[in-house]
Amino acid sequence: MEPFKSTGYTTPQTRHVPSFKRRPWREVTHGTAIALITLAGLAWWTLPFHAATRESVVRPKEEFSWDQVTPSQSLAYHDCFDGFQCARLEVPMDYNRSDGQGRRFAIAVTRLPAKVPVTDPRYGGAILVNPGGPGGSGIAQVLHGGRSLQITVDAEADPTVKGPEKLSQDKYFDIIGFDPRGVNNTTPGFSCFPNLFSQRNWELQVATEGMLGSSEDAFWRTWDRAIALNTGCSASLTTPPKDGEEALGEHLNTPPVARDMLEIVERHGEWREKQGLAGQRQHDRVHGHDLGQSLVARTRWNRGHEKLLYWGRSYGTVLGSTFATLFPDRIHRAVLDAVVDADKYYLGDGPNPVEDADAIFDQFTQYCSAAGAENCPFYVQGGPAAIKETYLALEDTLYNRSLPVRSSTTRGPEIVTWSDLKIILRIAMYQPLQAFPLLAKFASELAKGNGSALADLKHGGRSPSCPSSRCLQAGPWSAECQVPEHNEAYSSTAILCADAEYLHSIGEEEFRSSWETLRGDSSMVGDYWAGLLMSCVGWDMKPKWKLTGPFAANTSHPLLFVSNTLDPVTPLRSARKMSRNFPGSVLLQQDSEGHSTLAAPSVCVHKLIRQYFQTGELPPPGTVCQADIKPFLGASPTIQERSAGEQRLYDALMEEAERMPIARLPL
Ligand SMILES: *[C@@H]1O[C@H](CO)[C@@H](O)[C@H](O)[C@H]1NC(C)=O
Ligand SMILES: *[C@@H]1O[C@H](CO)[C@@H](O)[C@H](O)[C@H]1NC(C)=O
Ligand SMILES: *[C@@H]1O[C@H](CO)[C@@H](O)[C@H](O)[C@H]1NC(C)=O
Ligand SMILES: *[C@@H]1O[C@H](CO)[C@@H](O)[C@H](O)[C@H]1NC(C)=O
Ligand SMILES: *[C@@H]1O[C@H](CO)[C@@H](O)[C@H](O)[C@H]1NC(C)=O
Repeated sequence: MEPFKSTGYTTPQTRHVPSFKRRPWREVTHGTAIALITLAGLAWWTLPFHAATRESVVRPKEEFSWDQVTPSQSLAYHDCFDGFQCARLEVPMDYNRSDGQGRRFAIAVTRLPAKVPVTDPRYGGAILVNPGGPGGSGIAQVLHGGRSLQITVDAEADPTVKGPEKLSQDKYFDIIGFDPRGVNNTTPGFSCFPNLFSQRNWELQVATEGMLGSSEDAFWRTWDRAIALNTGCSASLTTPPKDGEEALGEHLNTPPVARDMLEIVERHGEWREKQGLAGQRQHDRVHGHDLGQSLVARTRWNRGHEKLLYWGRSYGTVLGSTFATLFPDRIHRAVLDAVVDADKYYLGDGPNPVEDADAIFDQFTQYCSAAGAENCPFYVQGGPAAIKETYLALEDTLYNRSLPVRSSTTRGPEIVTWSDLKIILRIAMYQPLQAFPLLAKFASELAKGNGSALADLKHGGRSPSCPSSRCLQAGPWSAECQVPEHNEAYSSTAILCADAEYLHSIGEEEFRSSWETLRGDSSMVGDYWAGLLMSCVGWDMKPKWKLTGPFAANTSHPLLFVSNTLDPVTPLRSARKMSRNFPGSVLLQQDSEGHSTLAAPSVCVHKLIRQYFQTGELPPPGTVCQADIKPFLGASPTIQERSAGEQRLYDALMEEAERMPIARLPL
């Protein structure tokens, strides 16, 4: 059988290859399956994926705690976790405050050191990364995916092996992640709940009520819950600790975060210069002055002119295009991957972003049909159309009637609902490679009236939450009761609502009509996206520093945009549009479906990204790369033709995709 023929999965390289190397989906999804069982589900739109519990995740040898690091205005790194360095960089909450006083954030920064010292001519600089969100933790991204990212951007050759002269062109990079304002380890943090116990109760109710679209009642329930949460949450975020001090919530939006990135870049220059001076002194002591002052010269801080190297995904592209708009002459390299239309995000202008989501579902039916019953549990005879019909009938049944699931040896009784299936569907649209097989498994069991696996999943997402003794002592709403680790969903809302003021005051009628257009554009994720737009109702706060666009500029080096052919929430169309706003930029297309290049490994795409970081050279406009593996169908036959270096890259991409799930956050 030649499944790729029937699905149109053909590339010039694969056309004449007779046998198709199949990689069973169980193998592909192994990591995800484990992660899912230990899921940490929050509100219905924060997803059940959680990587942190996998065995292979880096664990600190000795417990590292961010409180051990004193915040400072220069980067002062301390060893942390295993092979990483951490710093807390102080920045003003309000950059526009001219008296130099005022509250400050301590931005958490984690560096995965380059494979060469900064004094080495092959040191390429520090690449800042952002995983998306808003509200995603750059620290978590570097800890879980930094090594894979580094394999992508670094030169292929092992830097410790002395090679021929030309290899001195090779570059090796630091990878730096940071938690934006309001996120995870950056302080001060905030909480919308008096303690974790009340937060967990709230989240259980969200799941119980069902998502927007799950019933007529769900509309006002979701709306009123947003008001209940947001009025209190935004009120506490707009209250300064003392009169005349900054209110945290007025400084959480994206433009000041872009300014923080510039600060990190400048302070990195300062830090590099210090390393250079120390390196020179040490060299001179041992070897005399044979190198002159070359180490110092090479590492000198170009004060006020240091430039950014960046790789942002999804919401990270909002951050990137905001930076490029504000500081266009400070771009050295910037990859914007899964591109958000900044006008839509900030101002609500332009078409809905979900226009391609249903085409991704159609791909699901195509691949499932081609894979057959043996490899796709949801396979039914009659081709893709029959699979779609069967799926829609299942949605319909669950819409009218939830499925009772009796208790098991490991969990209590549950019901499985339409909303639960829609959540799995949403994850599948974002991450087809890992989650198409899961959708097929859950849907086929549900169609037989078996909800036990999905009930296990729901159950596994909940965790016990007793307030700590410190929290009990200090009382509700105290800092001791804040658990930044579990605040991701609320950080996301706070940043989104600060950026997108137009969502605060939306009225019922206007909302219902945009909801209608969203459902029209996508029956698969239209309700999900509408729920997201409802999440700022009742939010009452204005950021101090806002931008009104246009989000466009002539940058000091052209940007590299990357997009999947079919992306559920950041369509190729918005990548084309944003690329037009930044003259000289190029759009690289990965011919796969899902959200960001993490959706499927493509050695072709990542070699071009590597080339961009190594030399600055952009791919020719119009370049389209194939993905190396397809959901259900397995690896492309070209796999045998890979060099050792390409294989290493491919393995790193697979590992990153499995380790660093992206579907928890909306963007
Ligand atoms: C927050 O940061 C810690 C490291 O300090 C990381 O292990 C964890 O995964 C992050 N949490 C989230 C929700 O990203
Ligand atoms: C669900 O309920 C609606 C309205 O009562 C009905 O028209 C439809 O046939 C039902 N669907 C299923 C699959 O039972
Ligand atoms: C329901 O599905 C689970 C796997 O998800 C399986 O172990 C179990 O045997 C199934 N139950 C029935 C009654 O088929
Ligand atoms: C900063 O302050 C100046 C006046 O001191 C004002 O003109 C400007 O609009 C402010 N900018 C921001 C972003 O608040
Ligand atoms: C870029 O520069 C060109 C030529 O100077 C100019 O016409 C154009 O308006 C600039 N674009 C932006 C976005 O600043």
